[in-house]
Amino acid sequence: METPFTYGRLAVLNNFTNRKKEVQQLTENFSMLVNTVLISPRRWGKSSLVEKATGEAAKKDKQLRFCMIDAFNVRTEEQFYQQLATGVLKASSSRLEVIAETAKAFMGKFIPRLSFSPGNQQELALSLDWKEVKKQPDDILNMAEKIAAKNNWKFIICIDEFQNIASFNHQLAFQKKLRANWQKHQHVAYCLFGSKRHMLMDVFTNASMPFYKFGDLMFLEKITKEDWIKFIIKRFKDTGKEISKDNAAYIAGLADCHPYYVQQLAQQSWLRTKQDCNEAIINDALEGLINQLSLLFQTKTEELTTLQINFLKAMLEGINQFSSKETLEKYDLGTSGNVVKLKKTLVNKEIIDFRKNAIFLLDPMYKNWLETRYFKLKR
Ligand SMILES: Nc1ncnc2c1ncn2[C@@H]1O[C@H](COP(=O)(O)OP(=O)(O)O)[C@@H](O)[C@H]1O
Ligand SMILES: [Mg+2]
Repeated sequence: METPFTYGRLAVLNNFTNRKKEVQQLTENFSMLVNTVLISPRRWGKSSLVEKATGEAAKKDKQLRFCMIDAFNVRTEEQFYQQLATGVLKASSSRLEVIAETAKAFMGKFIPRLSFSPGNQQELALSLDWKEVKKQPDDILNMAEKIAAKNNWKFIICIDEFQNIASFNHQLAFQKKLRANWQKHQHVAYCLFGSKRHMLMDVFTNASMPFYKFGDLMFLEKITKEDWIKFIIKRFKDTGKEISKDNAAYIAGLADCHPYYVQQLAQQSWLRTKQDCNEAIINDALEGLINQLSLLFQTKTEELTTLQINFLKAMLEGINQFSSKETLEKYDLGTSGNVVKLKKTLVNKEIIDFRKNAIFLLDPMYKNWLETRYFKLKR
């Protein structure tokens, strides 16, 4: 039997809830060819949202073509050009002959070898002389524009995990190249998204950076508790089981409305429920989930320095002002200059973040594990 919750995959169809405003804004931006930069912590639902919005937009606006690129494993400029060229060609047609013609017309001088992987017609493999490409990447950077102009399309290039390009060698020169070419495009818009907020903010809001004011900045929030309650109750009902409003709220609360974890905890609770879910079942599911994550959290903690761990402890004990002499001494944090550095590193490691001046742990299950099992502040 199909289970009613999803995690670790994109949330689609029945598994996608809400985000109506965001879907609408993205859909409009696509149609009007407005660039968008979408930022949120990992697993809050960026990829699912973009997938949903591209589907909706394609239904409404037949001129739209989407090219989806995932930069999660892209480490060099060459790899980026390769992904971009392959993605654009793939989005331009599903037929190899047509793609080959397009490649010849627009990238003739690089003479690409094209093939579909045997056994997987979805996988297009492109062989280019990457050394040549790197010397003169403009053709690749402008290929989408040319194809779109010729066919009267609106091409939307979506790049997931965009923060990765900020770690390339010579990244500033690379960003300049991208921006210089992309800003001339009349038939292409970009939807760039990723998780490292501070890094991305620097790329897109720092006046001295090439991507300054490139497009609409969108910060994706978590899904609200009210929405989760409705969603959880409905998914239980759809599959012939029951959960009360209070217990649905309990699940959302334990997972701190974190999209991935709400789905995971709901799933674990659902699996343990014969007919009617209750608090004991949910507690048991939570226990199971934390057990399952325990090894991961242990490794994550071992990789932290003592000072970083001290900082997390202070945070979990409710400290907000870290630079008072008393706090520095009590938690052995060194100097207040140290604290600034500690915060920065923990933010970069995507362990903590700030919202409206409040500091919080990004992973609610890690928080729970630290509180109950590591520092033993709670039971
Ligand atoms: N709109 C949504 N409705 C329901 N669940 C969602 C939604 N968006 C995300 N999720 C849950 O969060 C998980 C992570 O979503 P994903 O889109 O991969 O996030 P990100 O790209 O930000 O890392 C999904 O597997 C799903 O369980
Ligand atoms: Mg993603």
